[in-house]
Amino acid sequence: MMRIAILCSGGDAPGMNACLRAVVRTASTMGVEVVGVRHGYQGLLDGDFYESGDGTGVMSARSVSHIIQHGGTILRTGRCDEFRTASGVRKAADTLVANNIDGLVVIGGDGSLRGAIELGKVWSGRIVGCPGTIDNDLAGTDYTIGFLTAVATAVEAIDKLRDTAESHERLFLVEVMGRGSGYLALFTALASGAEFACIPETPTHSAQMVSDISVLKKRGKASIIVVVAEGDDDGGIEVLRGELEAEGCPYPLRSVKLGHVQRGGSPTPADRILASEAGDLAARALIDGKSGVMAGRLAGQMQLTPFAEAIAGTKTVPLEQIQLLKRMSV
Ligand code: F6P
Repeated sequence: MMRIAILCSGGDAPGMNACLRAVVRTASTMGVEVVGVRHGYQGLLDGDFYESGDGTGVMSARSVSHIIQHGGTILRTGRCDEFRTASGVRKAADTLVANNIDGLVVIGGDGSLRGAIELGKVWSGRIVGCPGTIDNDLAGTDYTIGFLTAVATAVEAIDKLRDTAESHERLFLVEVMGRGSGYLALFTALASGAEFACIPETPTHSAQMVSDISVLKKRGKASIIVVVAEGDDDGGIEVLRGELEAEGCPYPLRSVKLGHVQRGGSPTPADRILASEAGDLAARALIDGKSGVMAGRLAGQMQLTPFAEAIAGTKTVPLEQIQLLKRMSV
């Protein structure tokens, strides 16, 4: 009987459980055993497997019942320093061999897929990935699993901030996650009606911003929301806040970091469906003999993208949406 393993790695993302559920159910329906690995790659180093009750680590179709609606991951996740070393990767491969594993599904972001590439160099088994990250920084899929839920969470928070910003006639700088990508910030800004998005993909000029903000003030805007990507080139919201104050920003300023709240919560229906489709395709592809590819949905079509292409950094925020935000902020 074929045996595959599955792990979640890196920052958790809403929808990882839905993806895990899909892999387990599709594989078990096809007569393939799925062994759950806990705590990401660290679990491969430690032989830390899903507690199945019988010591096998095997996940049944029932073991993933009623997890589709839950954020986080029942397998736990982690970032593993030892797995970044050659000996760590070797050790992970040894665990897979010792446990007669033929294939591995990795649910995670770019760092996790990089790890999968290294593992593939020393292990003869097959590896397929699923894009699980709120950052939406992987090519080969329009959206990564968890991204749209994180946008919804950030938008909900900003709707609340808008109430207080409007009452006090203030400007709020709101920092969102996204690592080096501005996707989360741009989509959050568009969906929340924020006036500005400061993202790594475009330069932030504080003097120009204050000039634009002053125009909006003259036009009668009572409040301003500026969504700032954590990877923005300006050095973070506190630096930007200081610069805007120094340039004579006409509104009193407040700054808020949304932080890890963006990673939690129940996945949206769109994320649950994407996660289910990606998990199902990953399992079928792996069983079918594919390796070194990530399952994603691009322009409505589920497809497989080689790991190297998925992490190549070719995914850029759409220029037309940057322009749209400008046209809406008048
Ligand atoms: O990659 C997902 C992510 O949430 C990034 O947006 C963020 O920069 C990072 O992880 C935070 O990592 P940690 O949870 O280790 O602080």
